[in-house]
Amino acid sequence: MSNIRRANTEESKGKQKGNKVAEVPEHLLKRARERRDALSGASPSTDAAGTTANLPTEAPENKPAASAPVANAPLVSGPPPPPPDSAYVVAAKTRKKIPFWAMATLGLLPLWAFLYLLAVRPQEKTVAGPLAIGAGIYGSCAGCHGADGAGGAGRILYQGEVLKTFPKIEDMLNFVYNGSQQFVSAGLAIYGDPDRTGGPHAPLSFNGNPMPQQGEKHGGGLTETEILGVVCHVRYVISGADPQSQEWKSEYDHWCSPESEIFAGLRTGAVNFDNIAETYTAMPDAPKHVGTDPRP
Ligand code: HEC
Repeated sequence: MSNIRRANTEESKGKQKGNKVAEVPEHLLKRARERRDALSGASPSTDAAGTTANLPTEAPENKPAASAPVANAPLVSGPPPPPPDSAYVVAAKTRKKIPFWAMATLGLLPLWAFLYLLAVRPQEKTVAGPLAIGAGIYGSCAGCHGADGAGGAGRILYQGEVLKTFPKIEDMLNFVYNGSQQFVSAGLAIYGDPDRTGGPHAPLSFNGNPMPQQGEKHGGGLTETEILGVVCHVRYVISGADPQSQEWKSEYDHWCSPESEIFAGLRTGAVNFDNIAETYTAMPDAPKHVGTDPRP
């Protein structure tokens, strides 16, 4: 009875229900079983218990997919023992695999390569150009001239005012180096441009107080490199000279840009305020004399 039902279900798996040919009498099943056993040479008793383990549907599952030649056999014979794996299959199954966590490491290889390239790339030269130095130095001027150059105890520097006094950077460097007192002592009536719009500036004419000397030669605290830096800052940042403009481009490039040759020369000590003019005679728009003593 159980066999009948078994066969029944096997049958209905293959075809959909509604097919009534499913019921095979027990004796026919038995005969078929004996026949199969005879063909395959297996002992009949094994199947007699009604296990019917060797139903055709089960056989293919036990077979390795590769063993095509025996694929048709199971209909008549029992499932043949799976053929032993060939050497290369065994090798493939037993060899060490790449552990899953290593995959994460391997996946990060491109990132690692990128960081490596980043690290070995030649460092960008972080030159502290004149403006970078000057911005720091200006802190010591801001007390008198205002953080934005609006003036106070010292003269107004912003909105182009200081550019009117000193159309040439060399004259401004000289004045900041010396301060008002040196000019008075030297008997000079004015500093900067004598044709200044709004009238020339005379030393001690603002409020009677001097602009303090900054250069070391007269007891000031700034190096020539620092004076160039702060003067560049006052002209190009505080007072608003445009480095791209026709008027200021050449001056900016030669004196105040990060690539400034003069700035580099001052930094290494190759030149100083007294020999700049004679050193850079070949330069386009060659610098004029700066000097460390007051001069017109
Ligand atoms: C103690 C106050 C004080 C400090 C600090 C000071 N100055 Fe002056 N500065 C003055 C006074 C006052 C004048 C006007 C000088 C005069 O009339 O002779 C002046 C004038 C100037 C001028 C001339 C402006 C013009 O158009 O006539 C410049 C440029 C200048 N100062 C730059 C600087 C720089 C750069 C610093 C910082 C390194 C600085 N000053 C620090 C008080 C000061």
